[in-house]
Amino acid sequence: MDAIEVIVAKRDGGELTAAQIDWVIDAYTTGAVADEQMAALAMAILLNGMNRREIAGWTEAMIRSGERMDWSALDRPTADKHSTGGVGDKITLPLAPLVAACGAYVPQLSGRGLGHTGGTLDKLESIPGWRASLSNDEMLGVLREAGAVVCAAGSGLAPADKKLYALRDVTGTVESIPLIASSIMSKKIAEGTGALVLDVKVGSGAFMKTPERARELAETMVALGTDAGVRTVALLTAMDRPLGRAVGNALEVEESVEVLAGGGPSDVVELTVRLAREMLEAAGISGKDPADALGDGSAMDAWRRMIAAQGGDPDAPLPRAGETMTVEAPASGVLSRLDAYAVGLAAWRLGAGRARKEDPVSAGAGITLHAKPGDPVRQGQPLMTLHADEAARFERALAALDGGYEVGETAGEQLPLVIGRV
Ligand code: URA
Repeated sequence: MDAIEVIVAKRDGGELTAAQIDWVIDAYTTGAVADEQMAALAMAILLNGMNRREIAGWTEAMIRSGERMDWSALDRPTADKHSTGGVGDKITLPLAPLVAACGAYVPQLSGRGLGHTGGTLDKLESIPGWRASLSNDEMLGVLREAGAVVCAAGSGLAPADKKLYALRDVTGTVESIPLIASSIMSKKIAEGTGALVLDVKVGSGAFMKTPERARELAETMVALGTDAGVRTVALLTAMDRPLGRAVGNALEVEESVEVLAGGGPSDVVELTVRLAREMLEAAGISGKDPADALGDGSAMDAWRRMIAAQGGDPDAPLPRAGETMTVEAPASGVLSRLDAYAVGLAAWRLGAGRARKEDPVSAGAGITLHAKPGDPVRQGQPLMTLHADEAARFERALAALDGGYEVGETAGEQLPLVIGRV
């Protein structure tokens, strides 16, 4: 077999055989298939698609390229959540300890932000001392101690995906449903969770801009998980505006702690509780209502144990950016639109995100939102506060926000927070 035969088969709209898929993933992982050949194949897949059998074979081959984790030594069910990524999406932070407080183990391998979307590991790293890299034994230790662990995937987990994702990122081949579904699910299945809830984001700040595309992605991922023996459900949720009122690393940790203390913005609380219920149901756990665990302090206790078990100090002050700038409402009326992508791009330019994988992020940079779509505003009142380490960043952030929000006479249309379930 050779790479050109596989590329040409997909370029011409054909179906790849199981043998072709197994061979190409294995040969790419070992370096026998070159990056430029895999890039050509990824583009052919983006343009011509893959059927369910091909996607399942592709996912299995990526899982087989590395190790598979096993939590059978634990005495309670495991459950995890994966979000396809958005702006202000800090839900993992309150959700993992909340679900642990309700009786499941939550082994969550998370990622870093790239582009305008934030990454859970970058957020948690703003907590002094907290460590993202753990060995498998350390992961098990944190799980036993706190019930939840959020850390980086080791290099042994789905190495084919690691290589392919980095290649897709620089070859315009990210936005393919078969490639996104197989990328996410290969890691989640290899992670060994028994139950999985997918939060598929929809809107300007998400990969999937329309509910139709999001549903197709959700259905593909749910089928892959179910076929692999993982109890999998998906929610389609709104990402046309940012989630919560904080966008940026330390700012989002602060907001998550408010939620764990029983407060926080209503959309973050609602989505956290809804996803927690789905995770517990998928794990077969009943008896404790997640809303109660936010109110009675048990989720906060689990958070503190989880942060401390990974070297972090849950009481340490969080870093703050040295410079701030206020953006004021241009008129009186109602904030009719606040575009998630514009806010994510502005936060990125303020230093909260990175342009290349190896770049550092600023812990304190980001945006605090003082109004959300539908809120009444008065001309001159603060709409948002921008935070950056250097004032020179404000100009480019303001350019990103230009046209990204509107004050009108009435509230504009927005997606419901939970659009659907698969
Ligand atoms: N997240 C992933 O892990 N993979 C993708 O392809 C897209 C988002």
